[in-house]
Amino acid sequence: MIKVAVIGTGFIGSVHAKNIARHPGAELEAVCDANIEFAKKTAAITGAKAVGDIAQIFTNKDIQAVLIATPTDTHVNYLKRAADAGKAIYCEKPIGLNYEEAEQAVNAVRAAGVPVMLGFNRRFDASHAAVKEAVARGDVGKIEIVQLTSRGPKPPPISYVKVSGGQLRDQTIHFFDLLRWLTNDEPVEVYAIGAALVDPAIGEAGDVDTSIVSIRMASGALCQIDSSRRAAYGYDERIEVFGSEGLAESARQSFRGLSLYRGSQIIKDGLHAGWFERIEQSYYEAIDAFLKSLEKGTPPSPSLEDGLKAQLIADKATESIKTGRAVKVG
Ligand SMILES: NC(=O)c1ccc[n+]([C@@H]2O[C@H](COP(=O)([O-])OP(=O)(O)OC[C@H]3O[C@@H](n4cnc5c(N)ncnc54)[C@H](O)[C@@H]3O)[C@@H](O)[C@H]2O)c1
Repeated sequence: MIKVAVIGTGFIGSVHAKNIARHPGAELEAVCDANIEFAKKTAAITGAKAVGDIAQIFTNKDIQAVLIATPTDTHVNYLKRAADAGKAIYCEKPIGLNYEEAEQAVNAVRAAGVPVMLGFNRRFDASHAAVKEAVARGDVGKIEIVQLTSRGPKPPPISYVKVSGGQLRDQTIHFFDLLRWLTNDEPVEVYAIGAALVDPAIGEAGDVDTSIVSIRMASGALCQIDSSRRAAYGYDERIEVFGSEGLAESARQSFRGLSLYRGSQIIKDGLHAGWFERIEQSYYEAIDAFLKSLEKGTPPSPSLEDGLKAQLIADKATESIKTGRAVKVG
């Protein structure tokens, strides 16, 4: 049994805590939050100890692994402290607010030599993984176009937006990672446009809520990622990998499979209400992969390096929005 502590028991930290608590290979030793009431709430559900002072997590020798699920502007500091304390780490995405601070953290963590996994949980979605397998088998031939979409359902609170690093580092970063993983290829150039079309307050905070990123890959393949913070019809996520021999698609998914045929119409169930509902299972699968890698002593994947590469694409795309120019990556 691997003894784990979760740091940050807000939305996603409490999801992770529940998944760790029900995993047969783990014991959820403690949950920690700057707001002890949040920690207590998650502790009551999971049976873990609630902790308000993070130093108690890093100095507790029984704790072998920590999961960092605090706001993005705290990740770099906690990554370094957890690595110094010799803990294995699962860190939520993104590594940091920008590439420079992320790279510094990665160098410090590398020097400590502890295993680290980045929270790119979408790699563990069954449909996305099936696209990866089809592409790797050569089913689509030579990749020519990759199209990724992430829309909705509603913008996060402005307090979250302000410490998120912006839409491309917060939301689209999952899709930068999926792009590299699906294609086994690296971007060489990005061009991005963005706007605050959903909520002017997001624009006032210096961010965008609607964006389109075009990417040229080293192989010559072309990619487009569109992201929106709002979709009036639920959460819309899909992937297409188009190549010389065909197309692999992870299609938008409905919350249920009912189709009603009446007269000249077919009425089908709509999409999942939110991104969480669409990809909920992948969070458990990601934790499972992390714990199994610790058990076997194999390097966790997605790695810290994957996190850094996605962070670089996010930074370059953000720069492109600001300058209005295409930006080289790498
Ligand atoms: N992989 C995913 O799909 C996914 C989904 C959501 C969020 N995230 C990432 O997880 C992180 C948290 O997001 P969230 O939506 O759960 O945010 P949240 O605001 O709901 O939760 C953050 C929690 O951290 C606590 N906290 C704040 N500062 C702290 C500190 N210095 N020390 C200890 N606790 C502190 C807060 O009290 C809060 O309970 C973000 O980095 C976000 O990008 C990833």
